[in-house]
Amino acid sequence: ETRLRLTQSNILIVGAGVAGLYTALKLAPRPVTIITARPLGKGGATPWAQGGLAAAIGEDDTPNLHFADTMQAGAGLVDPEAASVLVDGGAAAVEDLVRLGVEFDADADGVLQLGREAAHCRNRIVHATGDQAGAAIMDVLISAARASNHITILERIVVEDLLVDDNNAVGGALVYDVQADERASVDASETVLATGGLGGLYAVTTNPLPAQGHGLAFAARAGAVIRDPEFVQFHPTALDIGVDPAPLATEALRGDGATLVNEDGRPFMVDYNKAEDLAPRDIVARAVEAEIKAGRGALLDATKAIGKAFPDAYPTVFASCQNAKIDPRTHFIPIAPAAHYHMGGVMTDINGASSAEGLWAVGEVASSGVHGANRLASNSLLEALVFGARIADQLREKETTPRHEPGAPGDRMDLASKPADPIAMMKLRAAMSSGCALIRSADSLHMTLNVIHDLNSDPAMTSGLKSALVTAELIVQGALMREESRGGHYRSDFPDADEEAFHTEICTTGDITSQ
Ligand code: SIN
Repeated sequence: ETRLRLTQSNILIVGAGVAGLYTALKLAPRPVTIITARPLGKGGATPWAQGGLAAAIGEDDTPNLHFADTMQAGAGLVDPEAASVLVDGGAAAVEDLVRLGVEFDADADGVLQLGREAAHCRNRIVHATGDQAGAAIMDVLISAARASNHITILERIVVEDLLVDDNNAVGGALVYDVQADERASVDASETVLATGGLGGLYAVTTNPLPAQGHGLAFAARAGAVIRDPEFVQFHPTALDIGVDPAPLATEALRGDGATLVNEDGRPFMVDYNKAEDLAPRDIVARAVEAEIKAGRGALLDATKAIGKAFPDAYPTVFASCQNAKIDPRTHFIPIAPAAHYHMGGVMTDINGASSAEGLWAVGEVASSGVHGANRLASNSLLEALVFGARIADQLREKETTPRHEPGAPGDRMDLASKPADPIAMMKLRAAMSSGCALIRSADSLHMTLNVIHDLNSDPAMTSGLKSALVTAELIVQGALMREESRGGHYRSDFPDADEEAFHTEICTTGDITSQ
């Protein structure tokens, strides 16, 4: 093992999606190192974000209205202070991205066009090239980061664990350098997790498959509190065309008037909620699943509302449909729910600090308090920007805290530095999708837990599988602890919400899969 000491920079960011890159940019002029498991721009979810960025910048809109929608969607678990910070930061975040060079869709006078998505009471989604907001933002952030002298980017470096010193402070990361084929320790006095989500733990997901929630496992093993891990958001309209991961059909299509119909063309959301196709995401996702299970099928009809405009307005979805030989201008699109976004995560305060000394978290890996039990569409890019900037404000001038010599990162050193074995992942993903998905019960959760425990004794255990198992178990444990139904978490054995909303918090310094 070699020890890669960061001599100029003692701030380490793990992950290079919108959260990691934007935090790094805002840290200027403080030197910072970003490590990313893959070449920059590859493997993460940001470039796949279709809908866009929610910001209350329309003439008929206010941050207060955005706040109210965010609170309402979160079903009693949104932290009002965090939500205020989020919605108040919308206009500045959009302005900053425009300043950096992101070309959002605008009308002939240069006024930004604002799309509609479910559970927003106003049109407030800023988008780019129709459904390519994430890619447009990533291109600009990558160029800006590459051009910034204060940022060092180390690509193809896979984090295996965090280093924790004898004061229980996080002091950097144990990494595997893919190119050099060797392990190294990266020392840092402040470590920011920006590792994204975990849809790749499910058999059907809209996420890139490497999104297996490793950051959550690192934080848990470092002793940080994990909050509400059971809240996994399922997107109601992933393309059901036998492709893994499942391509997304953005919610903006329904914002534009597309409707959910059965195989016989009958709109079905009218049976479920008064907001019909624009009901909150968890409600639509469960309705779609119910229709599919009842054998009636679920499809998205964009033929009338969008029709000929489809290729220009939604080029990404159009391309995915074309790959499956579906013409969405004239035919319905088969859809199904898919794991899409993790609302729980590493608990942070409103400045992004986790409960573990020296550890910060931003973006999907964090539980900053803005999503509660159900994230409002397009609040996630905004969260990454707003809270990334806040972490940067905390760390820019912060004095270097010398961390003690970290202890050996335990049994991680005995595991092969490899991603999870594909067969083991297939078993895990199947178990998560059958027992810990849209509808759960104590029985189904225990079945999933059994698979996790079996896989935990897999002789082919690797560092990648270990982290995936730790995170999967956190989700299951949270789901078992939450004996109620709320937002994205539905227990068939506890179908009602408790009167008092409560958070689940899991804190373990041990290896939770060893029980
Ligand atoms: C979508 O475009 O439907 C996804 C937006 C989001 O998940 O926030």
